[in-house]
Amino acid sequence: MKSFDTSGDFKDNYKFLIGSILPRPIAVVSTLNEDGTNNVAPFSFFTGVSAKPMIVAFCPLIRSSTGEIKDTPRNIFREKEFVINFVSQPIVDKVNQTSAELAYGEDEFLHAGLTPLDSEKVKARRIKESPIHFECLYRDHLSYGDEPGCGQIITGEVIKVHIAEELLDSGRIDTDKFQPVGRGAGNDWILSDHRIQLDRLMKAQIQK
Ligand SMILES: Cc1cc2nc3c(=O)[nH]c(=O)nc-3n(C[C@H](O)[C@H](O)[C@H](O)COP(=O)(O)O)c2cc1C
Repeated sequence: MKSFDTSGDFKDNYKFLIGSILPRPIAVVSTLNEDGTNNVAPFSFFTGVSAKPMIVAFCPLIRSSTGEIKDTPRNIFREKEFVINFVSQPIVDKVNQTSAELAYGEDEFLHAGLTPLDSEKVKARRIKESPIHFECLYRDHLSYGDEPGCGQIITGEVIKVHIAEELLDSGRIDTDKFQPVGRGAGNDWILSDHRIQLDRLMKAQIQK
């Protein structure tokens, strides 16, 4: 096996993080800029943390091109709320557009051709074209440094969930209807149209 320690350039570590942790789900996080315009950006360092309270976490790194904190965490630390929108196959190109490094305050819904939808419990807007939305209140964060490549973890409590009705089958999300897309290494995006089934071995069964 090839082995390496992690004390070198952050880019080497990053390369192996994104090549190993696969496939990664994508949180498309929408927040409000200071002037009330919309900011949107995808984050694939993303996971569920707790069912009740319902908590999710995602991880913005310090921007490697400028050494500055990204607009999403900047907005969340000020506004204390955000929305996580999920990615289905028909909207991947538009979601990719939201990762562009626009000047702060430039509306990324407009840039990506996405439609803003008012949320019910938070001021940040939802993405109409996305089939699942989580309205979140900021809970806490941990930061691991201020240099390019340093990350932070931001957790949010999901206080309202919206799911497009056509995705539902007997109260559960049907994966074939959802068509979720994950992030791969480099330019890869991963479709979920090929899956296998294995029997669940845990005693407490929460199906799907
Ligand atoms: C699919 C995808 C996943 C991404 N995941 C992350 C991530 O987990 N963490 C991160 O810091 N940047 C990630 N990025 C890059 C950010 O989206 C990008 O830096 C963006 O400009 C941040 O926007 P903001 O400054 O509006 O927050 C990802 C980009 C794409 C296309």
